[in-house]
Amino acid sequence: MSSIGIAILAAGKGTRLKIERPKVLCPALGRTLVDHVVDATLKFADKVKIPSHLTAIVGHKKEEVEAHLKATFKAPISFAWQREQRGTGDALRSYFSENLANEKYEYTFVVCADTPLVTAETYQRLWSEIQAKPQLQAVAGTFVTPAPHGYGRIIRGGKGFRIVEEKDASPDERKTQEVNSGFYLIRTAFLLQKLKGLNNQNKSGEFYLTDVFSQDCDVAAVIYPDEREFLGVNTLEQLEQVTQVLRQRKLKDLMLSGVMCFDAQSTWVDWDVTVAPETIIHPGVRLFGKTVIGKGVILESGVILKDTQVEDGAQILAYSHLEKAIVRAGAHIGPYARLRPDSDIGAHSKIGNFVEIKKSRLAAGVKVSHLSYVGDAEIGEESNIGCGFITCNYDGKDKHKTKIGSHVFIGSDVQVIAPIEIGNSSFVAAGSTVTKDVPSEGFAIARSQQTTKEGMARKFLKSKK
Ligand code: UD1
Ligand code: CA
Repeated sequence: MSSIGIAILAAGKGTRLKIERPKVLCPALGRTLVDHVVDATLKFADKVKIPSHLTAIVGHKKEEVEAHLKATFKAPISFAWQREQRGTGDALRSYFSENLANEKYEYTFVVCADTPLVTAETYQRLWSEIQAKPQLQAVAGTFVTPAPHGYGRIIRGGKGFRIVEEKDASPDERKTQEVNSGFYLIRTAFLLQKLKGLNNQNKSGEFYLTDVFSQDCDVAAVIYPDEREFLGVNTLEQLEQVTQVLRQRKLKDLMLSGVMCFDAQSTWVDWDVTVAPETIIHPGVRLFGKTVIGKGVILESGVILKDTQVEDGAQILAYSHLEKAIVRAGAHIGPYARLRPDSDIGAHSKIGNFVEIKKSRLAAGVKVSHLSYVGDAEIGEESNIGCGFITCNYDGKDKHKTKIGSHVFIGSDVQVIAPIEIGNSSFVAAGSTVTKDVPSEGFAIARSQQTTKEGMARKFLKSKK
């Protein structure tokens, strides 16, 4: 029975990016570069249904890369430590020496963590190729481009081909337009034997994995038609380019699944966001992280959602900003509303303009329609909160809770000094500063008596002149 060891090259420093962060942890549409690659290889393993195991070769900032992968994927991933980044061939040597079990897989599948656009279908084609021609020891994915700069060139000849890196290529070899995309499927026995013979006699002084291929071996290069899929990230400009391709793919998938998107050009949807059909996305909407949008939702222009859950039929009106919040079915939010983490807005509730909600649970049918701050609070169903309401939840040292029952009416310009409880079906008069609990069905008014002096306004109005 065949088996595949999958080696993900992820040890490089990414010097050309000119940043401290390891290249493979650079963000690409809400994930990191390496996440996209791991995902594609796992999908590939799933498609070919051959026993396989994944190992990431790590080096530069290896603790960060390992911690990230462990936290992100459920599938078991092993790690091989390449102590010094002495080239892609040296990385494969670490892959075997750090984990001897990797020698037992019949094939070794090598992918680069910095080419995040390659799909499982593309990997699968390489597998079909080597299956179809049993004499082959290795296959490499290549493509033809008018701009081969930076890639290893494929020099065909004899029964196979060799790969010459840009730096080491002669002027003639540089003109070759067929280039190495950096992923290979190799018989493990052949690879182990070739790795022993690698040297670093080249312009970079590195052990090149590409030297495994030669013209006198049974190796094949498979040309792929769409070069955009193989864009590798060596600079931050290329990071932006691959991100745009991922973004277009994501939006296309959503539209094909029944999501109405009026202007893909101005819409940003992170890779892990899900949106159910019948939802309408207006221009300028941005959905980040693990946001989940239900069916028939309306997202108006300028809406920003981060790790937020919006249930069926809810509407998020223009320029609202929501983070780690839940909006239940049929609720209306905004325009210009802000929901901070751990806000749970009940079904058919209404949060109006310039309202900020933090760490609060609102039951069904609650209205907070204008200019309010609700923090560390619970509000029961069908309660109505007037304009300019404030939970005074912070005493300068600690945060305190506010509990408001159901069917409560709170007038405009009310402040409640937490900790406090306002009972069911109670009424708080406008302009009150409430410092004591209010019982169910109670009426609270806490404002000074009005004094009116006949004719006295004249004096003030005159003095102003
Ligand atoms: C490599 C190929 C080149 C191909 C190109 C495709 C070699 C020698 N060259 O060049 O033929 O056209 O990819 O994108 O393989 N890495 C390690 N350890 C190291 C060095 C690199 O793990 O010591 C990892 C990097 O993190 C990266 C991958 O290997 O994920 C490729 O390395 P990189 O330096 O980007 O190679 P390229 O110059 O792009
Ligand atoms: Ca590269």
